[in-house]
Amino acid sequence: MPTASEIAQHFPIESQSSDRDKAFLLAARRLMGDLAPGYAYLEIGSFLGGSLAPFLVDPACAAILSIDERGKTLPDERGALFDYAGITTQSMLDRLHKAGLATEKLTTHDGPIDTMAVSDRRFDLAFIDGEHTDQACFRDFLWALPVMKNSSAVMFHDSSLIYKAIRLIALYLRKEGRPFTFLKHGNSEMSAVFLGDLSRCDLGRYFEAGEDCDAFYAASEVTVLEHSIRNRVRSGPDGEPLRSFTIDPPKAEKAYY
Ligand SMILES: C[S@@+](CC[C@H](N)C(=O)[O-])C[C@H]1O[C@@H](n2cnc3c(N)ncnc32)[C@H](O)[C@@H]1O
Repeated sequence: MPTASEIAQHFPIESQSSDRDKAFLLAARRLMGDLAPGYAYLEIGSFLGGSLAPFLVDPACAAILSIDERGKTLPDERGALFDYAGITTQSMLDRLHKAGLATEKLTTHDGPIDTMAVSDRRFDLAFIDGEHTDQACFRDFLWALPVMKNSSAVMFHDSSLIYKAIRLIALYLRKEGRPFTFLKHGNSEMSAVFLGDLSRCDLGRYFEAGEDCDAFYAASEVTVLEHSIRNRVRSGPDGEPLRSFTIDPPKAEKAYY
């Protein structure tokens, strides 16, 4: 695990991720540098550019596509709506340039991945960190998969929120007969599926042993329920939350301050 100051050096732009999440991204970057030099990176959900930064400076990374549905208030499995208004692709680019990061290899698309023109670009590594609902994450994966190389990796953030999408993705890959390995990073919100030859490589050289999947799914279910109850359930007039309650619609809140 890199030290806090090493992590800060690789992530000069603020990012909605923990140091362990960032360490996982750096491990994926090392894997790509060793096994797919000249790799192409696809990011769904870039916000301020925090998770783009380590790939922008990696000489082994040849091209980056950042997809972000900007300026929306988005639903979330926590039973709240997250307002991302105010951050545009231009403000992200300005922030990256201010931090001294060159963006020549970066292209951007404003909108969800299913509005992109068909292209023959293929990617080695993807990071899905857009709308944190199971449906949106599953959609992002379904549209990303055809643009991924046979041997590639797709990472997920906020894995405990979109754990049902991850279960569906594993089911879909199994049904399609695609070789894959799923890894959930312990004490972190990062996980990844490694496809094709990457599913058979020595992942232990780059990543810590993953969490037990069933324990991850069970803990995630509790996390999502707790958030939803806190965000949406109100006790009824007798003040007894378990006997009488109402469920509010999701309320909007600022995604950042
Ligand atoms: C949690 S932030 C991303 C954080 C960033 N990856 C980081 O680590 O700094 C989520 C971003 O996803 C974007 N977004 C939401 N829904 C999306 C979608 N369907 N497709 C692409 N981007 C989306 C939001 O506009 C926001 O910028």
